[in-house]
Amino acid sequence: MSTKILVLGSSNVDLILRVPRFHHPGETIRADNLTTVFGGKGANQAIASKRLGAEVTFITRLGNDYYGKSYRRYLIEKGLNQKSILADKKVPTGMAFIELDPKGENRIVVSPGSNSSLSVDDLRRCDPLFGKIKAFVTQLEIPIETVRMGLKMAKRYAALSLLNPSPSRPLSAEILSLTDFLVPNELEAQSLTGLKMRKDQDLPRIAARLLKMGVKNVVITLGPKGLFFKNRDEEIRIKAFRVKVVDTTAAGDAFMGGLACALSEGKPIREALIFANTAGAFATTKLGAQPSLPFKKEVETFIKNQSK
Ligand code: RIB
Repeated sequence: MSTKILVLGSSNVDLILRVPRFHHPGETIRADNLTTVFGGKGANQAIASKRLGAEVTFITRLGNDYYGKSYRRYLIEKGLNQKSILADKKVPTGMAFIELDPKGENRIVVSPGSNSSLSVDDLRRCDPLFGKIKAFVTQLEIPIETVRMGLKMAKRYAALSLLNPSPSRPLSAEILSLTDFLVPNELEAQSLTGLKMRKDQDLPRIAARLLKMGVKNVVITLGPKGLFFKNRDEEIRIKAFRVKVVDTTAAGDAFMGGLACALSEGKPIREALIFANTAGAFATTKLGAQPSLPFKKEVETFIKNQSK
């Protein structure tokens, strides 16, 4: 039987512009093409968790506009519970404007739209959905009060809580202490702690600071350099897999989905990190957020072949 995961977070429509290079202030450049896909960190993490084997409930808020309606239909088609896909009559659906360079690196500007009105009251009304979940996953593209309440409810239901602190913003001691697994990237880890990462050897110090700030486990994702994990008892470094990078968008979301699935299935931490790392690497090999999210079988086969 599959494990139950609840994801709380944003849904955006992503407009991806392939640019020859990132442009300078005041400059106008031409994009090679424009692709529109479904994205948003919350939705990406929900779809990733589903593809990677979990039974997923997703709490989100879309606009009642053209994009919102088609996104809603799509999420329901993907098997997500329609009751928690809320609609906002006044505010448009969240949008992300993504510039993608030939190396697969991106720059993203998000217009939050209806994600900003996903409220604490919405969450209270979703209380029954927290029953029997193994893990709770959230990020920071929705109001911080809603994130805090989600983490509190997860703890009340004894679920494992995972927070991806992206996009970066200061976090209260309460939020950090409600978090079992904090999964920042390098930049987010630096901005949360105020510590600079000049070399790899700085990672234990930065992770230790995050533990001191209240989280129980820290996973710092390092893109092409892999990841660094630390809790009170151990430190683990895992290298990234070498893949041909097309688009790094949503690699962190695939990682989150992979980690939530593996941990809630009871995999030991190293195994869970390898699973998440592989899911993240897969997501960089295709264009777009959700089109690039891998399935459990792909990730498992890849890991099996690596260990031969
Ligand atoms: O993490 C990738 C996501 O960030 C994109 O899908 C975009 O919507 C932004 O929220």
